[in-house]
Amino acid sequence: MKDELMRIGFILILTFCSVLFAQELDGKKVFETYCWGCHHQKAEAFGPSFKEIASKRTLEEIQAYIIEPKAMYKAFGYKRSAMPQLNITDKERDSIAKYIYSYKGSK
Ligand code: HEC
Repeated sequence: MKDELMRIGFILILTFCSVLFAQELDGKKVFETYCWGCHHQKAEAFGPSFKEIASKRTLEEIQAYIIEPKAMYKAFGYKRSAMPQLNITDKERDSIAKYIYSYKGSK
């Protein structure tokens, strides 16, 4: 009985780790596919760096901006918006938003 519980616990931990890992990989892939031309992780490009975005926005704000830049740019303090509305899935948006947010506090 105790062994059985340990085994289940171990499997749960493994599953949890692989979910976390897959999410991070997905976020990076979405970034490389859709965002890299205009955003870089730590350096300013055409758009602000992920590090800068994460330092001043919440996860929800990041999500909202990706969904519709044209509806959000004024609230974010921009005079005009050059970021296109990207056609990505909810899951892709979720993982890229978390990926951006993971740069919060990075050097
Ligand atoms: C064609 C260039 C371009 C592409 C592609 C692009 N962006 Fe942007 N992004 C910008 C620019 C420029 C801004 C600055 C505000 C504006 O012009 O809308 C911006 C702003 C943002 C902001 C808000 C910045 C802030 O002040 O907090 C977020 C979040 C963001 N982009 C995420 C993404 C993500 C995620 C992707 C890919 C899925 C992406 N962008 C793709 C150009 C781009």
